Amino acid sequence: MIRPFPNPAALPGALPGALLGALLGALVFAACGGAASTSAGGSPSVAPPDQASPEQAAPAPVTVLAGVYTDEQAERGRLVFREACAECHTTRDFRGETFYLSWEGSTVGRFVTSLVDTMPDDDPGSLPMQHYLDVTAYVLQLNGMPTGAAELADRAETLAGIRIERVGEGEGG
Ligand code: HEC
Repeated sequence: MIRPFPNPAALPGALPGALLGALLGALVFAACGGAASTSAGGSPSVAPPDQASPEQAAPAPVTVLAGVYTDEQAERGRLVFREACAECHTTRDFRGETFYLSWEGSTVGRFVTSLVDTMPDDDPGSLPMQHYLDVTAYVLQLNGMPTGAAELADRAETLAGIRIERVGEGEGG
């Protein structure tokens, strides 16, 4: 006995109902991943992997509010600060309005570049790049920027895409 189709109008009328029933049954079986599927499907074919080009589209622009450094990195940055900056600076130099006055609307990339180009004042560019990145993470932390899953990394394009924005009102003093 043949079960009625839910929507006969949608099916080509030329095919005998029995055949359609069989096809439909096979489809349902396949959809459920049925182990009893017949040889009708043939061998499973694997689609060729996409040849993704190494140059993907540029990452979407983000801001420092998206979580662009980690706690660990900021902690390392704190030590860098102590060793390489604290003789001339206090953290107040890089915090709150003082920081925003110079850097709001700019990018993390520009901040890092400016550090590399000018600091330490008595020997600019003398630190390893990683230290400049870490101390930048520390400055973000000083300003209450949220942490995220990944560290600030030495990728100029990524850094240039991170806008410096103010943490929400009522935060970050
Ligand atoms: C030998 C002293 C000295 C050391 C060490 C030093 N700085 Fe400076 N820094 C200065 C002086 C002086 C200025 C202000 C004049 C200028 O901009 O060149 C300054 C300015 C800055 C500014 C610009 C402030 C702004 O927002 O416009 C930043 C940022 C900065 N320093 C970060 C650092 C960091 C980070 C370190 C450690 C890696 C560091 N400095 C180490 C002396 C120093």
